[in-house]
Amino acid sequence: MSNRTFTMIKPDAMKNGHAGAILDRIIKEGFRVVSLKMTKLSKEKAGEFYAVHKERPFYGELVEFMSSGVIIAAILEKPNAVAAFRTLIGATNPAQAEAGTIRKLFATSLGENAIHGSDSDENAAIEGNFFFSGLEQF
Ligand code: RTP
Ligand code: MG
Repeated sequence: MSNRTFTMIKPDAMKNGHAGAILDRIIKEGFRVVSLKMTKLSKEKAGEFYAVHKERPFYGELVEFMSSGVIIAAILEKPNAVAAFRTLIGATNPAQAEAGTIRKLFATSLGENAIHGSDSDENAAIEGNFFFSGLEQF
């Protein structure tokens, strides 16, 4: 069990003005910020990040959406971080997310669902290193 996960506040939540509330919630839930930046993914970089979904019907839409505006990327630390963070963000489809979860509160739709959370310790490390050099991980 690793203590780190990776997250992105997605373009819908950024455009809808929810970034501050989402970061506040994450910190209040006890996650320590290891790395943080605002950035924008090119289509190429978004495609690379979500390459695991390449064969899925929603891949094109996902790449368009994730490169449509700025995002906030962060590495977060807490015991059992990956599972704890997935619980905090809620189900992929906000209609099915538990009350009080970040997706229930802030997501727009299944495709535009406010926030990303890594799904395994291995992917958390890969994704964190995709955005942050060793010198940017505190
Ligand atoms: P994420 O990777 O962004 O944290 O989301 P997740 O694990 O809950 O869901 P995943 O299956 O990894 O899907 C990645 C993202 O693709 C979009 N999606 N669209 N239109 C659709 O049917 C559909 N299904 C998934 C969502 O933005 C989802 O978060
Ligand atoms: Mg996923």
